[in-house]
Amino acid sequence: MTEMGGPVADFRARRLWVVDALRMRLAAPASTTLNQRLYDALRDWIQSGELAAGSLLPSSRQLAGELRIGRNSVVTAIERLVAEGFVETRPGAGAFVSEWGARGGVEIDDSPTAMPTLSRRGTRVLAFGATLAARHTAFAPGVPALDRFPRERWQRLLRRHQQRAPVDWFDYQTQGGVPALREALCDYLRLSRSVRCHPDQILITQGAQQGFELIARLLADAGDSVWLEEPGYGGAQACFASAGLELQPVEVDAHGVNLDRVPAGAASPALIYVTPSHQYPSGVTLSLARRTALLETAKRLGAWIIEDDYDSEFRYASAPLASLQGLVASAPVIYVGTFSKVLYPGLRLGYLVLPEALVEPFRRANARLHREGQYPVQAALADFIAEGHFARHVATMRDCYRQRQACLREALAPAVRQGLVLSEGQAGMHLVAELESHALESVLVSRARAQGILLSPLSAFYLESPGRPGLVLGYAGATAAEIAAAGAWLAGAWLSASGRAATRAGGAT
Ligand SMILES: Cc1ncc(COP(=O)(O)O)c(C=O)c1O
Repeated sequence: MTEMGGPVADFRARRLWVVDALRMRLAAPASTTLNQRLYDALRDWIQSGELAAGSLLPSSRQLAGELRIGRNSVVTAIERLVAEGFVETRPGAGAFVSEWGARGGVEIDDSPTAMPTLSRRGTRVLAFGATLAARHTAFAPGVPALDRFPRERWQRLLRRHQQRAPVDWFDYQTQGGVPALREALCDYLRLSRSVRCHPDQILITQGAQQGFELIARLLADAGDSVWLEEPGYGGAQACFASAGLELQPVEVDAHGVNLDRVPAGAASPALIYVTPSHQYPSGVTLSLARRTALLETAKRLGAWIIEDDYDSEFRYASAPLASLQGLVASAPVIYVGTFSKVLYPGLRLGYLVLPEALVEPFRRANARLHREGQYPVQAALADFIAEGHFARHVATMRDCYRQRQACLREALAPAVRQGLVLSEGQAGMHLVAELESHALESVLVSRARAQGILLSPLSAFYLESPGRPGLVLGYAGATAAEIAAAGAWLAGAWLSASGRAATRAGGAT
């Protein structure tokens, strides 16, 4: 009875579904009597937990009426359930599912069930550090200021488009996304990111992650190599691993990913994944010389570059850099964007900007593998952009994040005065703190955990251990007060764990 959507706590609450499901059970061809089939159905649901202990059954008169069967059949079935202990009657109150019945009518063996055996691929995916942690207020990397999202305006647009949605939008879609959204996005990307595109080249996806998956499935085969930045983004690492690709980490330095550091003899890649505007997590920007080298290498090797431009809107010192995709005409680049950072991750909307030749195969594959949907939400987003709310929100968030970063720097100042090194933070939603040893990294992470603070160790972003020790400190998703408190704690913890003493601001060490 799983199609009923979970345990049926009470017949009254879910009467229509239950009665429908019972009608189907009774109507199914069977050689048994009506009361036997009714008894079987109710006992199955009680034993499987669909009808929880304490659920009130309808009276035999009501049930007979709704099922349009004789009352005797109902009375016989329920009396048998009562006699066997699955149901108990309480005078004046009715018949209820018993505790014993809901436990399956047997004494339950409480020993833990064995962990199911996952595929090798599944096991590999889980190794990429995805935690399903409860929401942490300070330091979670990549979480935007959810408290500052203009909810009312967004709800108004959503309501408008839910009400006006043409009936066609209830059907399967294959257009690559709502045309108005693709047009608004195209306009935005051409102007602010110098992306070369027209609306047909845009494919709306359920976030960047789904875009990576499509690319991995359509442009690489199991066993093919993908080059990735080291350190790098765990979501991309997990996605490529789950597609059966061989991951080849490529060192990142102050100028971004350095292809000269690809080991001699490394397999030629089908894909090269990069975050050129703001490398995740180091924060460096890919230099122009490296961009040119990357484009040339990809062309020479016949590889596709995946340009993940996840948070380029948040630059504080200068205007965002032009995209890699727009640098030269017909670059072998698939540009990937997401609304997870500029709006909110639960929205699950992202997009690919595809070279012309890939538009049709990607649309068809996406419609086949994932289906398209949520057209009213996409239409609301198109208006959100076209009416200027998006640009305003980005500008407000840029200010907000600049302030939140300043707040984190201020809280960490006592440690910085004693030698803690922080990344430049000219962009993005997190800072990186360098640490001198892995031991210090793990001490701080575990002390923070004991305080209920989530600290992300930099070494976990490396495919090849040990990686550089450090901390990735998200500041966008927490309020100034939360950042100040967590930052002050971290400064103190770093001072004590690294054996330094605090000094007063401006004082000698
Ligand atoms: C580097 C990078 N790319 C992309 C994303 C966004 O992915 P999605 O659109 O699937 O939420 C994130 C989110 O954490 C990220 O850090």
